Amino acid sequence: MTVTIKPPETPEEFAQYYNLRWRILRAPWDQPEGSEKDELEDHCYHLMACDDSQRVIGVGRVQFNNIDEAQIRYMAVEPACASTGIGRKIVSELEAITLDNDHDMIVLDAREPAVGFYEKLGYEVKEKTYLLFDCIQHYRMQKIL
Ligand SMILES: CC(C)(COP(=O)(O)OP(=O)(O)OC[C@H]1O[C@@H](n2cnc3c(N)ncnc32)[C@H](O)[C@@H]1OP(=O)(O)O)[C@@H](O)C(=O)NCCC(=O)NCCS
Repeated sequence: MTVTIKPPETPEEFAQYYNLRWRILRAPWDQPEGSEKDELEDHCYHLMACDDSQRVIGVGRVQFNNIDEAQIRYMAVEPACASTGIGRKIVSELEAITLDNDHDMIVLDAREPAVGFYEKLGYEVKEKTYLLFDCIQHYRMQKIL
């Protein structure tokens, strides 16, 4: 399978992009469609991974919090395609976008099961942060590019 990483552009691509985000990061906790979006979407860089038939199998977003700091959010990979390098590719492209925008520090709030993934990519745990939906522990992580 050839995986292509690109920004969503058409309404159909954005629909698939947000749908994957919702299915992986919100639906398992009974959160309604729409809860996967926030008020910053129009100000962020979005990337999606597509398979040979242009199906969206991975997503991720980077936002710029201030002049020093970028933040990766909403990373999700289709479970059937997990551990095949798609998450790594998306993060790598988000890091390239970060550097292109003259930022060299990325922070993120990792779900506990994903901490090991980000550690593999060079991110370091800084502190234990919040509980999402009363059950998903998050950890603030950071990487200097
Ligand atoms: C976390 C997630 C984005 C990782 O994406 P992925 O495509 O499966 O990861 P990759 O295949 O690119 O993995 C890169 C490396 O991290 C490792 N890895 C992947 N997931 C891991 C995990 N949960 N814990 C520890 N290591 C992990 C892989 O084995 C691989 O290591 P290698 O290069 O030595 O082989 C994906 O599993 C996912 O969507 N999880 C559910 C949603 C989620 O938790 N998102 C993050 C919210 S903060």
